[in-house]
Amino acid sequence: MYAIHATALAILACLVITSQSSAAEGNPARGQRVFGACAACHSLQPDQNMTGPSLAGLWDRKAGTLESFSRYSSALKSANVVWNEKTLDDWITDPQQVVPGNQMTFPGVKDAKQRADLLAFLKQATQPGSQIAQQGAPMGGMGGMMGGGQAPNLKKLDASDRVQEITYCKDTYVVTTANGDTHKFWERNLRLKTDASSDGPEKNAPALVAAGMMGDRADVIFAEPGEISAFITVKCG
Ligand code: HEC
Repeated sequence: MYAIHATALAILACLVITSQSSAAEGNPARGQRVFGACAACHSLQPDQNMTGPSLAGLWDRKAGTLESFSRYSSALKSANVVWNEKTLDDWITDPQQVVPGNQMTFPGVKDAKQRADLLAFLKQATQPGSQIAQQGAPMGGMGGMMGGGQAPNLKKLDASDRVQEITYCKDTYVVTTANGDTHKFWERNLRLKTDASSDGPEKNAPALVAAGMMGDRADVIFAEPGEISAFITVKCG
């Protein structure tokens, strides 16, 4: 009687193992590369939100419920979806099909093999305490272009990046940095932003950050909105 039970259990265990390995066909290393398409908007660090919510702890989470993310669409918040292999595969194939009206501006990954790889990677990297997530930039050695997608920390700035003064005349901003350099920008090419997170600048020490490819655009990032107009003097000559 006992022997029969033991055999039955062994067969059952084999069945479970084989069905698991066939479900986990995707290759996580390749999937990490596919994640490059997501990394500009999604971090794998807990509560590090960018354009999109952090994906840390994603498995079995109900869609639209990460407490620290304040920009969910009402479409995603009211979607009755729990994230798992099946729902994520559908979402990554065509987000608008799964939750019409959601605000993830991403067309989807149409190649089933790439999706399987991506899911194999995500399943590991979104686990609490995952090594991969802690590395930050998952691609390592690619200059953070593909993976990570993390905004640089602006707490410690070189004098050449720390804004001392901004003047405005006619259509031009002149930004003076702490090393004494001045930079002139056409007003439509300078963006004034804030970052209140732990990666944002210190109070009253806004950061000048190059933007775009041509060298004619930049962002000035302040610690809070109240600093913006206080920092800018209208002054000609
Ligand atoms: C251009 C930015 C952008 C890209 C690229 C992007 N996402 Fe998103 N993602 C978002 C935004 C914004 C939301 C929230 C959408 C909403 O609330 O309607 C979101 C939501 C999600 C959610 C739901 C999370 C939750 O908390 O319910 C998942 C899962 C997700 N994205 C996965 C991915 C994956 C995987 C990729 C790459 C294949 C990807 N995203 C690419 C911006 C992006």
